[in-house]
Parts: sequence; structure tokens; C-alpha cells
Amino acid sequence: MISKTSLSQLFNQNFGDSPGQHSFAPGRINLLGEHIDYLGGQVLPAAIDRGISFVGHLSETDVLEVRAHDMGESLQWGPDILNSRPEKGWKLYIWAVLKELEKLGRPWKGAKCLFSGDLPQGAGLSSSAALEVACANFFFKAQNLKISNEELALLGRRAENIHVGTACGIMDQFISVHGKEDHFLQLNCDTLKYEVHPARLEGATWVLHNSMVSHELGDQYNQIRKSLEEAEKIIAGGPLLEVAPELLEEKKSQLNESQYRKARYVIGEHQRTRAFIQAMGALDVSKVGELLVKTHEGLSRDLGVSTLELDALIDISGQSRGWLGGRMMGGGFGGCTLNLVKTDELDEYLKRVHQGFSERFSLETESLPVVIGEGARVERWIENK
Ligand code: GLA
Repeated sequence: MISKTSLSQLFNQNFGDSPGQHSFAPGRINLLGEHIDYLGGQVLPAAIDRGISFVGHLSETDVLEVRAHDMGESLQWGPDILNSRPEKGWKLYIWAVLKELEKLGRPWKGAKCLFSGDLPQGAGLSSSAALEVACANFFFKAQNLKISNEELALLGRRAENIHVGTACGIMDQFISVHGKEDHFLQLNCDTLKYEVHPARLEGATWVLHNSMVSHELGDQYNQIRKSLEEAEKIIAGGPLLEVAPELLEEKKSQLNESQYRKARYVIGEHQRTRAFIQAMGALDVSKVGELLVKTHEGLSRDLGVSTLELDALIDISGQSRGWLGGRMMGGGFGGCTLNLVKTDELDEYLKRVHQGFSERFSLETESLPVVIGEGARVERWIENK
């Protein structure tokens, strides 16, 4: 998280006064359970200590000014703001949140705001969910309005589903709001009930490697969801995730090859989340690593959401001492791999992965040790504190 002092200085340079309020929402990792949330299954995400800080104050005018510090861009919207949809990017996400605020009878107010973050761009760490949550929370708290954590997450998801057009599940917004330091959530995406479990494993460290292929969820993601929902209807034996592998085999002839493979992946992945929780509880690092690798194979071969660079990162990691297991993480088509590495071999391991990746792609991978942090929060500014 960027320090409050730096944010205050930035705000002051931009607007000539102090920000008033700091709304922070983190990005996330997902230990296991990929492409499972929108099918109502259980997922195992954790918030990280990096995210988006949305700072500012309401103003007396009805003009909303937002500066996107990291992009060097800004917007200035007047009262008819909700009539014209920005085409894409951060402006669309903010607009989508304002649309949802208005639906709740809490319309947008004039304000001066700035946001900045320390999540690598396009790395699949849910910067869009963090922006939605940080922005929505900012406007609620600035007007002293209450919103429950669950409703805040749901609002972010509706903004994305309805106004941005990505048919994502609830995982990213939910974990951004509900993250617990050093813990991951076992989240039931159907009921939104969850339990928290320790994410630390003695002698092992979670590390992300950025494939440097910018990840953006869009048509390909929506298509995968559609194809799985079609498979669910064809199999018609209840929720797809609970279909027994034998039933899937029986119905194979009614599915096309792609539907069959995708269904096989999600059914296996959902079963793996149960085994994963057990392995984490038993502190069985080898089993945890093995399950991560199985997930990568499924995401790459059956679901078809990996890339050359992500597969290469897993391959290179697999040849590097100290690696216990890993997989591509998130919706796919770019972003990061998540890896579990023996802590006492971490330095040597990192050298090998960096060398291996730059030899294959003439590109430097960026590696981030994972620090698991708390969910979204808003603080009022008290200068000199
Ligand atoms: C993206 C979506 C999530 C989830 C993951 C895949 O991050 O926003 O809802 O579907 O992909 O697990």
C-alpha cells in the first residue's frame, strides 16, 4: 500500500489541499478454485498487501474530478455524467460504480479525487475489482452512509457484470472486501458464507511471477462461462460442479469436445479445492504443490486459458530447485503464476527462473513475494499522524 504521506503530497500537488479521506482496496491471489466462482462453487482466495488507494473529498460543486495518477490521466464529469458511458479502462469502472450507487438512491456527488496503486498493471491481481471497491467505499463513507461488506462486494460485481460487461463471479470483489491478514478464505460462492484458514506454511513461501502478458478479461472469459453453462444444461444432473465423473463420461457424446474438456476441468478443480484445504490444514507442502500443478495442467490443457509464457514459467519453475508447485492464476490469457517455493532455496530459485524466462522470451519476469493482507478500509485524514 502506498504511504498516506505520499498520497497526501500527491493530492496536494494536484488539487492544492488535503484529501480528507483514504479508501484502500487490495488486489488478490487465489490459492485454488479457478473458474469456479461463477458456477457457485467454493474458491480459496486471499487479499494481498498491494492495492488501490482512492483519496479525496467531496466538493461544494456538482463536478466530479478524478485523477488516475499512475496513468497520468484525468476526468472531469458534470451532472449529466451518467448519460454517456466511457468506452473502456478506469473511467468505465468508475462510471459503472456510480451507476450502481445511483440505483441504490445514493447518487454521485461532486468531489475531487485521485487514485494510485502498487499492483502491477494487467498482472491478473484484480486491480479492477480493487478500483471498484475502493471507489464505492469512498463515496459511501464520504457521505456517512452505511453499507455492509457483503453489499459492497456485490455492488462491485454488479458494476462489472452490468455496466462493464464482464460476466465475472464474486470472488475478486468479495476477497478485496473481506481479506484477512495471513489467511485465505474458503468462500462458498453460492451462499457467500466463508471460513478463514491460515495461509502460512512453515519453510515455504508464496511467490508470483508476472508473465508480462497483459491480462484483460473480456469476450474469451465470457465465452468460457457460456460454454460451461451450456454443458451444465446438457448434463442436467444438478449443479455442474457436483456432477460425478462417471456421469460426465456417460454424457460425453452429447457434449462437444470443448464443452467436455471444460466440464472435466471444473469438476476436477472443485474436488481439488477440498483436497487442498485438507493439505493446507495438515501443512503438507508436497501435496499442496502437487495440487497446484494439477490445476495448471487442467487450466492449460482442458480449459484452454493459459498462454505460452505462463506455461513456460511453470516449466522453468519445475526445473528449478526449491519449487514445490505452482500454476497460472486468475481468469487466464496472461497475468501471473502463483508458486510455492522452499524458503531456504528462494534466492537461488528466483535467479534460475529469471534467467530461464529471459533466455526464452528476451523479457524480464517480475517476481513478487506474496504478503497476505487485510481487506478494504477507509480512514479519515488526520494530518501529522
Ligand atoms: C477473474 C474473475 C473471477 C474468477 C476468476 C477465475 O478473476 O473476475 O470472478 O472467475 O477470473 O477464477
